[in-house]
Amino acid sequence: MRERNLTPIDRLLAGANNALRTIAAPAGRPARKNPAADVDEADLSDKQKAHAAGLMRVNHAGEVAAQALYQGHAMVARDPNIEKQMHRAAEEEFDHLAWCEQRLNELNEGPSVLSPVWYAGAFAIGAASGVLGDKWSLGFIAETEKQVCAHLDSHLDELPDDDAKSRAIVKQMRDEEEEHGENAKDAGAAELPDPIRGLMKLTAKVMTRTAYRV
Ligand SMILES: [Fe+2]
Ligand SMILES: [Fe+2]
Repeated sequence: MRERNLTPIDRLLAGANNALRTIAAPAGRPARKNPAADVDEADLSDKQKAHAAGLMRVNHAGEVAAQALYQGHAMVARDPNIEKQMHRAAEEEFDHLAWCEQRLNELNEGPSVLSPVWYAGAFAIGAASGVLGDKWSLGFIAETEKQVCAHLDSHLDELPDDDAKSRAIVKQMRDEEEEHGENAKDAGAAELPDPIRGLMKLTAKVMTRTAYRV
């Protein structure tokens, strides 16, 4: 998506449109096929289903935040190539969002009721770190994606062994988050100070604990 010639009002409307399509389920059609599409549904117990749904709701909330972060960063990016890179990543994150939502539906549950809160918070953080300059904005992305990879690895440990459908989605997401992080590093990400990294981990913990339940 090229937005270089858009007026500030156009950008605002495009941003509002993206916010709405992110927080209002159903999310719309993903651009790519769901990695779980050809995977058989397992015979899960109610308890296993509830646990898998809790984890997938956390992942969905993470993808809501990812949309907001990338949109926030893109809106204030100085370098057009970096802006383009952010939009490209946001498109892949949108597929992740739609796949998680699809899986939640299959497990007879829905996304977090706090999606607007996750979106608003992450957008503000994305835009704020973007204002500091592209290298900090990229540093923030690199660190976020690193933390997300670790978090998705923990979900691969925690998801029921038989739930191959959820696993297929989480696995592909994990690979792509790693790539997003590498791309941010290649584009010149700065290393974030330790206290900021700690604060990010703490924020993520609050979000994941909450979204597991609501
Ligand atoms: Fe993602
Ligand atoms: Fe990502």
